[in-house]
Amino acid sequence: MSYPYQIKSLEQYHEVYKQSIENPEKFWGEIASHFLWRKPFDNVLDWNFSAPHIEWFKGGQLNITENCLDRWAETQPDTPAIIWESNDINEPHRSISYKELLVKVNQFCHVLKNNGAKKGDRICLYMPMVPELAIAVLACARIGAIHSVVFGGFSAQSIADRINDAQCTLVITADGGYRGAKEIPLKSVIDDALVQCTSVQKVIVLTRTQTPVSMIKGRDCWWEDEINNVENAGNPFVEAEVMEAEDPLFILYTSGSTGKPKGVVHTCAGYMIYTNYTFINVFQYQPGDIHFCTADIGWITGHSYIIYGPLSAGATTLMFEGIPTWPDAGRFWDIIDKFKVNILYTAPTAIRSLMSFGTDVIKRKDLRSLKVLGSVGEPINEEAWHWFHEHIGKGKCPIVDTWWQTETGGILISNLAGITPQKPSYATLPLPGVQPLLVDENGVPILGGDASLQDLPSETVSGNLCIRHPWPGILRTTYGDHERCRLTYFSTYPNLYFTGDGCLRDKEGNYRITGRVDDVLNVSGHRIGTAEVENAINMHTGVVESAVVGYPHDIKGQGIYAFIIFNGVLDDDKLIAQDINQTVSRVIGAIAKPDKIQIVSGLPKTRSGKIMRRILRKIAEGDTDNLGDISTLLDPAVVEEIKTGRI
Ligand code: WT7
Repeated sequence: MSYPYQIKSLEQYHEVYKQSIENPEKFWGEIASHFLWRKPFDNVLDWNFSAPHIEWFKGGQLNITENCLDRWAETQPDTPAIIWESNDINEPHRSISYKELLVKVNQFCHVLKNNGAKKGDRICLYMPMVPELAIAVLACARIGAIHSVVFGGFSAQSIADRINDAQCTLVITADGGYRGAKEIPLKSVIDDALVQCTSVQKVIVLTRTQTPVSMIKGRDCWWEDEINNVENAGNPFVEAEVMEAEDPLFILYTSGSTGKPKGVVHTCAGYMIYTNYTFINVFQYQPGDIHFCTADIGWITGHSYIIYGPLSAGATTLMFEGIPTWPDAGRFWDIIDKFKVNILYTAPTAIRSLMSFGTDVIKRKDLRSLKVLGSVGEPINEEAWHWFHEHIGKGKCPIVDTWWQTETGGILISNLAGITPQKPSYATLPLPGVQPLLVDENGVPILGGDASLQDLPSETVSGNLCIRHPWPGILRTTYGDHERCRLTYFSTYPNLYFTGDGCLRDKEGNYRITGRVDDVLNVSGHRIGTAEVENAINMHTGVVESAVVGYPHDIKGQGIYAFIIFNGVLDDDKLIAQDINQTVSRVIGAIAKPDKIQIVSGLPKTRSGKIMRRILRKIAEGDTDNLGDISTLLDPAVVEEIKTGRI
């Protein structure tokens, strides 16, 4: 087997890129013809960004799981689809072939149907990183139900908000999950969440930790019992639901600069084709390779590059339940050695954290199977890049720095491993079909090496990163609120998709993403809105007002710094900080806990009452000498106090 649309040389990349821009419909139409369709599409693309209205492959009918499972179960039944490594080094790994995975997914389809699930229903998944999570995701897709996976670190309140927003009727969870030395009581958190969720009729619970859980009659059932019932009933095969190209496939919630997280909606055909195309080209996957993406399936990276991209390509995807530092900081390297991993796709925050443990844990490991390394989630600093290149890739593995977002479905800007040049800290060039454009604050394009690579500027330029033409993986809407989708992504600059990222472009046309230009933080590669954290902090009884900003953090990339006006009975700052952290954990989850909390008597505000975050950001960064003009503040004296009290 080979991939007909895998780009094999730099010249070919330039040629394909040019064609993809000159005639995007011909380009994507040709790629789409390599997939299994129940009915061919009539129209490749219909779009306008002002609505926004985006439809790819209209008229086409398909089921993504026939492309991810059935076709490979037929042609390569014994190829491992999923290899799973436990959190526990003593628990045997599992290897599930395409043939076996198809059976397991079919069985679980029956379970879903027996519990009343049908096409279009929303199903919430709150599960540990075990193969059953992938099986549940695929079973939802096979029966046409819309999955909404919620990361296992989110609180009951966050789950309830997501379940209610999507009006989920079914929840799939586990008794608990392992993460390093910790046990996470997943079912108990779900029980707390469901107190607020009237739409949920059934909860299916997988056994993982054997933690005692409460099981409510009529609502809760065990995964294993349900599977037994199906097995006893005989033939497990389930005819995949025939889906329209633009039927929703899943919802995934992500944070923005305002309000509660939005449910980003991806649809069946475009998302499938885009994750497949980018997986095959960016990582240069070859049949037989073992692909190890270290993300959690609770984030978009897991959806696209653990499940759908690899499986739609008939690849072997390695899924790891644990964390990189448990039982020691050599765990990733053990796994690479044990399974002879060929592609390692991870995050800068993990690399920086592992760097701090030194290279002794690497020396005893055989990493010679590695061919390609990948980075995602935040800008990778040069030091981490070089360490990764030298100590893990031994100087011979290309590193792909992949820039993308939950909303983009798949990678938009990246080098192609070993094919197009890498440049440390640069995501480099756009993938075929992707048309980046830098604009200034007024939306005026900064012309040069976008789209054509012909008319290049002679210098590096900088601006806000936009995309000017749809690609198949672009989000279609935000669940239940299309206007919010328009306002967030398509209204800042007319006829452009605005990414929220600032960006540089060098004179060769390489893009370097510099970070968010909105009030969104990127903590350990996870997106968190400052407004969301402030709302959580403000729920604490003693808090009068708060302001949250990001600051550079050695491991996490960005840390969370909270300035708080407190008016409670407590007078012990340390205890207050602990209480605030507890509150944030309850409301959002531990990932949103501030790293630093400073109690202040006032916040720097303009005369109209707007908090001057610019000043707080400077103080948090430690750049207290360059605060700029503070004369327009309501109370300039407060700045001195905050500077002095800086943590
Ligand atoms: C934001 C998207 C894409 C999956 C993981 C995060 C930042 C992502 C890179 C990169 C610099 C990056 C951007 C983007 N980001 N990849 N290679 N270089 N920054 O998905 O939670 O939707 O966050 O992550 O700021 O907007 P997400």
